Amino acid sequence: MSLVITGATLADGSALDFAVVDGRIAAASDAPSDAERVDAAGLVALPGLVDLHTHLREPGKEDAETVASGTRAAARGGYTAVFAMPNLTPATDTAEAAQYVAELGRRDGHCEVVPIGAVTKGRDGVELAELGLMAEHGVRVFSDDGACVHDSLIMRRALTYLKPYDGVVAQHAQDPRLAGPSACCHESEVSGRLGLPAWPSVAESVIIARDVQLAEFTGGRYHACHISTAESVDIIRWAKKRGKADITAEVTPHHLLLDTPHVESFDTTFKVNPPLRTSEHIEALREALVDGTIDIVGTDHAPHTQEDKDHPFDVASPGMLGLEAALAVVMELFVNTGRMDWATVVDRMSAAPARIGRLPHQGRPVAVGEPANLVLVDPSRRATVDRSRSASKSRNNPYHGLDLPDPVQMTVWAGKVTFRR
Ligand code: DOR
Ligand code: ZN
Ligand code: ZN
Repeated sequence: MSLVITGATLADGSALDFAVVDGRIAAASDAPSDAERVDAAGLVALPGLVDLHTHLREPGKEDAETVASGTRAAARGGYTAVFAMPNLTPATDTAEAAQYVAELGRRDGHCEVVPIGAVTKGRDGVELAELGLMAEHGVRVFSDDGACVHDSLIMRRALTYLKPYDGVVAQHAQDPRLAGPSACCHESEVSGRLGLPAWPSVAESVIIARDVQLAEFTGGRYHACHISTAESVDIIRWAKKRGKADITAEVTPHHLLLDTPHVESFDTTFKVNPPLRTSEHIEALREALVDGTIDIVGTDHAPHTQEDKDHPFDVASPGMLGLEAALAVVMELFVNTGRMDWATVVDRMSAAPARIGRLPHQGRPVAVGEPANLVLVDPSRRATVDRSRSASKSRNNPYHGLDLPDPVQMTVWAGKVTFRR
């Protein structure tokens, strides 16, 4: 099926009428006569979004999310590619496991699914996984996410071994001694008053500080996942200014929008790892995303069943949904306040994540000859978020009840319409 899309504006403000033919963007005049005509007047055509940090729960926890449901949520959010974190059952720590996740993506995906390989066997932080074999099968991003690569020697070796493969280590920065498995609330007046196990900001920044040194020392490629503190921002800014380390950083939509007081309700929807922080941290993260110190928005979309959330706050599973709301949050905070133009949104949510993940056919501009991965966005439409209206199998949506932009009109992946309003 071909499309002719007319009247849209591009991220740079220019206008382009174009066609989608055989999976590529073509001139409008090259569309076959039976092409469907899409009136995109008033809409913005952006490259399909790319999420470097998604938790699909298949294989292992299909009651929380499957590749089908998670990628349907991705398409609804404007995404055309997601990188699948390896904290699955079994963990994605072999070439076979990575091929299996990719295969599920080809079979069931409503967007491209790119497996992330574990750094250590079973993600237990002790022994390196088959990094070379996974890399030979095309894996470029490696992470023990959910757990921190806390052993300095393991981190040194991972960075060193992956260097010739152009692989990147994506770190979940959490010193396990400073913030153990029960830590669940930003260490602050709030954690004290509520009596919740504290997760101090320094437990993140000490790991980031060590890791940027190891990245510089080894020459390996390093990515800091979901950074949540002002100190982590300062360290990344300092390390980038030195210019000797190949490092990138990520922030989630929830750490940009939501603050510690949300946990006062003891609503476990707001339990996430790292935890929601205070306004000073949040403002530092926003500034850093605008100035490029933080390279990308990664959703950390982390679906959990009601059963896994229905526990006392300190034992409930951490994580929140993100794929469907990420663009809305970025628009509300940055576009609608004049802090970011569309070109910067495209960089942070599509081009840069594709570059870090080495996905050359994603994150490309909307232009004739490019792969047809794109999203049509209505910049003025708004809605009250309703957690029951989600493609995800889970309902841990922290934005439920908020009035936010509701931008995604149509998503096209590899020339096929994967979502339309
Ligand atoms: O909140 C989180 N949820 N943080 C993580 O690091 C893991 C994730 C998950 O898999 O649920
Ligand atoms: Zn994590
Ligand atoms: Zn994660």
